[in-house]
Amino acid sequence: MLTNTPQSYGGVARTLHWLIALLILTAIGLGLYAEDLPRDSDAAVATLKTIYSLHKTIGVTVFFAALLRILWALSQPKPAPLHPERRLETFAAEAVHWALYGAMLVMPLSGWISHAAQAGFAPILWPFGQTLPFVPHSDALAHGFETLHKLSALVLYAALALHIAGALKHALIDRDATLARMTRGTAAGTPGAAHALGAPLLAALMLWAAVIGAGLTLPTPGRPAPQTQTATVQTGSWQVTEGTLGFTVQQMGAAVTGQLPVWSAAIDYDPTPGTGTVTVQIDTTALTLGSVTDQAKGADFFDTATHPTATFTAAITRQEGADHLATGTLTLRGAEVPVTLPFTLTLDGETATMQGQVTLDRRAFGMGTSYPDEGTVGFAVTVDVALTASRRD
Ligand code: HEM
Ligand code: HEM
Repeated sequence: MLTNTPQSYGGVARTLHWLIALLILTAIGLGLYAEDLPRDSDAAVATLKTIYSLHKTIGVTVFFAALLRILWALSQPKPAPLHPERRLETFAAEAVHWALYGAMLVMPLSGWISHAAQAGFAPILWPFGQTLPFVPHSDALAHGFETLHKLSALVLYAALALHIAGALKHALIDRDATLARMTRGTAAGTPGAAHALGAPLLAALMLWAAVIGAGLTLPTPGRPAPQTQTATVQTGSWQVTEGTLGFTVQQMGAAVTGQLPVWSAAIDYDPTPGTGTVTVQIDTTALTLGSVTDQAKGADFFDTATHPTATFTAAITRQEGADHLATGTLTLRGAEVPVTLPFTLTLDGETATMQGQVTLDRRAFGMGTSYPDEGTVGFAVTVDVALTASRRD
């Protein structure tokens, strides 16, 4: 029989239960396995990508299967508890069931939102795209939901442990039909026996509200809180009031954007001939690059342990027409490379707004020698600079 009765789970409910159980256990296995995989070569990163793509695809499948399961459950009678007189046990079993329903939604959604906010590494293997409506690209959002994903996993472990321990207790100690009801569809329980109803649902809802609140506000473990540009010692005739320094690289064929949030600039600029000098000191240890920040800081890329500071020193000139050039040297990772940054400058009274973009080749800085082709990490790195400065008196 496909439908539930007041004493038994029908074929649809049982199939969905075991299908989702299998998918969730596989997703957990892949998630934990991927966490510990090495990321130090092309081959290792390709394996990692496959595992995460599988993990995400299975996770998204859980989400849709869970929606189906919830809609189905709403249309069906709920089989009566086997031991309604054991009030605490009935409460615990039902609270755990609701907590598991929460996990079926929160786990995939938190992973999916984090993925959509970041995009890039390890796509979901399906034809409908990698983004979500209403989810903007944002590192902060991605990290918030990543923390929620990890925290929710802990709740899922605890709920599953209780759930499986309960099933085993019924099968081995009570020797009742609880497990058989979910495996073979055996009928058991007193029809009409009361469910604990609202209280377990409320307990699970409160648990999930607390977890979602904590997950979205706690900083991601092992990741510094996002910083905005902090200009430390500034000299020169212009004072930077705000600015961003970002860079974009192709990773596995998808663009990933990182930030260098901590830097200071000494700018001398005279608008009448349109000439000047600029020196920018960049704290490379503060960089972020999506989910691969640690690798980007590692010895093969920015090597921030050995080279915590990068410097750009340049002369500013104005070209015919309006645009400017900053022509100088970028010292990064010990390599000194000539760089010309074209930029636009808008003067509004005592305030100047500049915006520039330049494309560099990571190989010029000896970056990513273990990625000798563009399969995993592209050669071209696009650097975007935007800042606002005001004239000192
Ligand atoms: C692999 C080990 C698992 C075992 C041995 C197991 C066993 C059972 C049993 C025996 C029941 C029936 C309880 C009753 O009639 O009161 C049940 C119900 C249930 N299980 Fe599991 N389960 C497992 C995994 C999971 C997973 C991974 C989830 C979801 C995250 C889950 C969610 C539920 C829910 C929500 C119910 C309540 C019935 C419903 O609304 O469909 N179970 N499980
Ligand atoms: C039923 C659904 C899911 C379950 C049970 C699940 C479970 C897990 C677990 C156990 C981990 C390891 C967490 C840790 O090490 O603390 C993990 C990590 C991860 N999951 Fe999921 N997941 C699910 C769905 C998804 C989905 C749908 C996506 C994306 C579309 C996703 C993306 C990720 C990512 C990117 C990580 C790595 C986080 C990091 O360490 O930076 N997951 N997941």
